[in-house]
Amino acid sequence: MRIKLTLLTSLGAVFLVSAHAGEFKKPADAIHYRQAVFEVMAHNFADIGAMVKAKKPFDKATVLMRAQNVATLSKLPLEGFIEGTSSGHTDALPVIWENKADFEAKLTAMQQNAAQLLQAAQSGDEDAVKQAFAVTGKSCKACHDLYKKD
Ligand code: HEC
Repeated sequence: MRIKLTLLTSLGAVFLVSAHAGEFKKPADAIHYRQAVFEVMAHNFADIGAMVKAKKPFDKATVLMRAQNVATLSKLPLEGFIEGTSSGHTDALPVIWENKADFEAKLTAMQQNAAQLLQAAQSGDEDAVKQAFAVTGKSCKACHDLYKKD
């Protein structure tokens, strides 16, 4: 009986934990999450950049792998831009939360460009990749210019 009760209690605890799994424990965790996503996304994006700028040989399989990562990662940062995270160890400007709709539109634009970059990578056409890379890079800058500290 006691064992059963313990089991039930721990099952209850599991459900409690999973119900809150999508939330951050503290503001710093949300900031760290979005910074980590941007960091990993930038690493993958930069490697495509090195290839389209001929700093290393253009390798279709690597471009495809990088573009898949960028397209997936581009969908993640928004979750970290919760209320109450405009101060602390962050380069995010408070104006984000005054213009949240515009901020989200800029993020959506970047996601769409990343999806185009993935399509170009799937086609294997180097010129298409080059062009989509440039367009996507502009959408990073368009947001950083307004919403990120230098
Ligand atoms: C919709 C706005 C937006 C878009 C689009 C965007 N960024 Fe950012 N980025 C930010 C903000 C805001 C921060 C600051 C986050 C913080 O410090 O909390 C940031 C931070 C970063 C950082 C620094 C992360 C760190 O370690 O502190 C890198 C690198 C980065 N972005 C790369 C990119 C790249 C590459 C793209 C395009 C493929 C991109 N970003 C697109 C808003 C954006």
